[in-house]
Amino acid sequence: MTKVAVEGNDFLFKGRINVPADKSISHRAIIVSSFLTKVTKITNLLISEDVKSTINCFSQLGVEFKEINGDTYVKGTGIRNYLPPQNVLHCGNSGTTARLLSGILSGQNFSSQLDGDYSLRKRPMDRVKNPLEEMGAKISTTNGKLPINISPASLNGTEFNINLGSAQIKSAIIFAALTANSETKFRDKKKSRDHTEIMLSNCTENIRIENDAIYITPDPVVELGDIDVPNDPSSAAFFIVAGLINHDSELIFKNLCLNPMRIGFIRILQTMGADIEFMNLVEKSGEKTGDIVVKSSKLKSIQVVGESIPAIIDEIPILCLACSLAEGESMISGAKELRFKESDRIKTTVTELKKLGCDIEEMNDGMKIRGKEELKGALCESHGDHRIAMMIAIAGTKAIGRTIIKNSECVSISFPNFFESLKGFRKKIQS
Ligand code: S3P
Repeated sequence: MTKVAVEGNDFLFKGRINVPADKSISHRAIIVSSFLTKVTKITNLLISEDVKSTINCFSQLGVEFKEINGDTYVKGTGIRNYLPPQNVLHCGNSGTTARLLSGILSGQNFSSQLDGDYSLRKRPMDRVKNPLEEMGAKISTTNGKLPINISPASLNGTEFNINLGSAQIKSAIIFAALTANSETKFRDKKKSRDHTEIMLSNCTENIRIENDAIYITPDPVVELGDIDVPNDPSSAAFFIVAGLINHDSELIFKNLCLNPMRIGFIRILQTMGADIEFMNLVEKSGEKTGDIVVKSSKLKSIQVVGESIPAIIDEIPILCLACSLAEGESMISGAKELRFKESDRIKTTVTELKKLGCDIEEMNDGMKIRGKEELKGALCESHGDHRIAMMIAIAGTKAIGRTIIKNSECVSISFPNFFESLKGFRKKIQS
């Protein structure tokens, strides 16, 4: 268990910041490559603990991985030819691995068992088990959670009309539908990130999107070129807020994934008065990408309600920090989903920001925050949650005195060199 200390007012956020590759797209790049027996080259694949969990699980299913000059080469098996796993498939801390894999494994002719770490074992799996069972899957959970057992089953194409706004459940159903025996129609009233649909639409005709409905036909015929993963806006979010709340900042972020369902927090920050400029917008394999420039800004409060939540779900802790230093009272509501993430993020965000002197109140489905001019350094705890650890560290750059983050190693889930990157912005001592 490691501890990291951050000194307040010791940073100047100027220059280029390299953030890691997108975690959601990296998981999907591995999964979709496994559908092909030809080798797929993935450039800029995120190698973080969560993505390593996906790599380890697919290795056990017979998929081969090789790293050459920083690129990852994946030799798949085809969606019907995975090897029966000899051991439990360990998903570590990764909810995306556990849920997407449940979809893929539900329609196989072998049994499998999925498990996860202490945090993942506390997260709900019913939400994915129930729709998969509607398709004919045979899944037994441990009180609705991991470990789960998946028995061989033949899946039926099914019609779903849901109102959930979860990309993990949607993706589990789409992947399961690719192993079914007839067409599946999926409609979710609430939008969620659409990387699965984008990546599949790029390489197979087995997915069709018409009037808000997704149609999936089984046995994907995949034509996949190289995959180039853009950088992760959810990781960038921490340095975006660092730049906004500290003086004299001018940060440049290159090659970010700017999928509209991923940059809701940038739009919200702009409404709060943030100086964030988009540049060099290009589309890469169906995903919008580009650069952004972020400058120090005076922020004002914001009200965020339910329908905006799926597009900012992973950025709410760091958005709360921005609200804590904005003028006026902010409110985030309709965000109960936060209670089911790597930690109960309503509770952990409120607890840790309070230690840092923020005026923040926990609500059942969100938080109320009254902005302040300054924070104070404190002894804080990550709760084993990468996004809470990074939020505390960025708060520490603006706090008076020293902030200590206990259990800081969890940043390796999504942003392995986060603290090295942060250290790179320490003010140089003048001689
Ligand atoms: C993810 C979807 C989101 C997000 C998670 C990654 C994905 O979860 O919170 O970090 O890659 O599909 P939900 O779809 O369950 O909200």
